[in-house]
Amino acid sequence: MKKILVVDDNRLLRKFLSTHLEKSGHQVQTAADGFQALDILSEFIPDVMFVDLFMPKIDGDRLCQIVRARKELKHTYVVILSAGLAETGKDYTKIGADACIAKGSFSSMAKNVLAAVAESDDPRQKDEPKPIIGLDAVYSRQLTKELISRNRHLETILESMNEGFLEIFQERVVFANQAAVAMLSISMENLLYAYPPDLFKGDAAAYMRTLIGENSPAGTNEGKTFDLNDKKISIKKFPVEGEPSTTVIIMADVTQQKRLEEKLQQAKKMEAIGTLAGGVAHDFNNLLMGIQGNISLMLLELKEGHAFFDEVKSIERCVESAATLTKQLLGFARGGKYVLKATSLNQLIGKMAQMFQRTNKNIIFHENYQVDLWSVEVDQGQIEQVIMNLLLNACQAMPSTGNLYVQTENMVLQQDGISRFDLEPGRYVKISVIDNGVGMSPEVRQRIFEPFFTTKAIGDGSGMGLASAFGIIKNHGGAIECISQKGKGSTFNIYLPATVENALDEVSRENVVLKGSETILLVDDEAIITKVDRKLLKQLGYRVYIARSGRAALAVFKSCHAKIDLVLLDMVMPDLNGEAVFEKMKTVDPAVKVLLHSGFSLDDRTRRLLRRGGRGFLQKPFKIKELSHAIRDALDGGPEAPNPMSGAPKA
Ligand SMILES: Nc1ncnc2c1ncn2[C@@H]1O[C@H](COP(=O)(O)OP(=O)(O)OP(=O)(O)O)[C@@H](O)[C@H]1O
Ligand SMILES: [Mg+2]
Repeated sequence: MKKILVVDDNRLLRKFLSTHLEKSGHQVQTAADGFQALDILSEFIPDVMFVDLFMPKIDGDRLCQIVRARKELKHTYVVILSAGLAETGKDYTKIGADACIAKGSFSSMAKNVLAAVAESDDPRQKDEPKPIIGLDAVYSRQLTKELISRNRHLETILESMNEGFLEIFQERVVFANQAAVAMLSISMENLLYAYPPDLFKGDAAAYMRTLIGENSPAGTNEGKTFDLNDKKISIKKFPVEGEPSTTVIIMADVTQQKRLEEKLQQAKKMEAIGTLAGGVAHDFNNLLMGIQGNISLMLLELKEGHAFFDEVKSIERCVESAATLTKQLLGFARGGKYVLKATSLNQLIGKMAQMFQRTNKNIIFHENYQVDLWSVEVDQGQIEQVIMNLLLNACQAMPSTGNLYVQTENMVLQQDGISRFDLEPGRYVKISVIDNGVGMSPEVRQRIFEPFFTTKAIGDGSGMGLASAFGIIKNHGGAIECISQKGKGSTFNIYLPATVENALDEVSRENVVLKGSETILLVDDEAIITKVDRKLLKQLGYRVYIARSGRAALAVFKSCHAKIDLVLLDMVMPDLNGEAVFEKMKTVDPAVKVLLHSGFSLDDRTRRLLRRGGRGFLQKPFKIKELSHAIRDALDGGPEAPNPMSGAPKA
């Protein structure tokens, strides 16, 4: 006696075969599809299985694969029963079956089935290829062929989808495509007949539990995404009409889309904060200019030893700190680069590293600079600010001791390597600052470029260091990235576009106030500024006209432009902005010399103006010395060679 399982969706055939086999003394169970068969197989281990090829809910193909993957069914002799095998031309041994019987008349099948049962006893013949038994008695039918071809067509569509497709019947997976297998990282054998929530974890498992319930609604969970094997996926359910026990689940990999959305949101947020930061810095710089100007004037009179000399000096230092902060704010706001100069960064970075090494003896510095590093066109002051912020953070991350690596490298970024940075392919200079300090958790790492984000104690950090670094590097057409793990240190990489121009040697400025006697038209809408600037200019020996608006400036210029040697022009004014005033002055006197000054940093408009003949740019607040140099540069430099300079105080 043998234990036999007959799996076929044809009720008559099931009945016929079970009666026939039972009469021959065997114990027989039947199942109408693969799904039922797997149910039975959890308790019943047959010696022989007859399996129909085309069935709903796990077809013969897949059922064979599952059976072959199960240890307890290793010795079961599997016989494919098929009416369509002749038409499919399939090699049944490939799916793990031991024999195949073509469905023909009941009488021929009765004979072939018993022969197959008898053959299952003979292990010698098991490995040898056998022909399909009874094939001679059937003939190819066009309709079957067409149905099979249609079926293949649909399967090809399902298999070519990027979305994972699961068909679920009575809370078990009965069909899955390869995309689903890949997404779930599970073999087809283990996926079929699985309870869907077991395939997921956390939220997704819970959601799946609600989805496969018969009355759960179709559609998505309001755009919610779930984590699945390091990917983000969306899960949609589609009911199958007329079959309440069957559900189709479609899983889409939305990792990339989510990443882009987050990036866009982050960019928008940064832009909004940037506008705010820029506005605050502008107003603040005007106030600081008022204070700095008055201090400069007082210091011209006060000599060391005066009762208030130390106090005034101390106020000046406060202004310097405040100006550093506004400079950071402007850096973040991407206000602009003051002076672009082709620069070789090795020297600049080397100097800063040396400076840090002197004051951080506990840290071992490893410097590795590329020989013949390409030049970059940068504002050296701003890049110094960025490097200083990175070195400072690295040192702060290693309070007792540690290793700090500072490196530069030439790098060509190809199309495939740049997607994470939003950079154009091309030549870049890469700067790396690497520490093996405390590192960051993913939550901290995500927020480090936000202005005012700090994990340091109040007073220890403003949280502006990396925000300004981010703005400055972006504004230089580069990118900055951070790789870090808690306890494992941090790596900051900066990429700056290389330039073809050769780096110029730095010209050192003499540390003296330069005087003159020309006439200057000072244009600024802020009383506090005109008042103090006027005194500063007088101290420097100049004659001064004042205009408190763009229109007033034009009126003065029209009436006495022959006497005016230089216009010190504010960029932002309520009636006519600096740009408009400059253009109108040029129509009166095309050779007009204009020095721009602003509480904002150099923006596109100012840069345009400099290209159109502006003689320089001064960032408020400035000291008398910086003002004096800028004026001389503007007055003495040739007309075709404007020489913009930064008036921002050095930190
Ligand atoms: N090398 C690093 N290692 C570990 N954490 C870092 C490192 N660099 C930055 N961070 C983290 O990023 C936060 C933000 O850095 P950022 O330089 O912007 O501000 P800050 O250093 O806190 O303050 P500030 O630079 O204004 O003095 C820090 O508070 C710290 O948590
Ligand atoms: Mg910092």
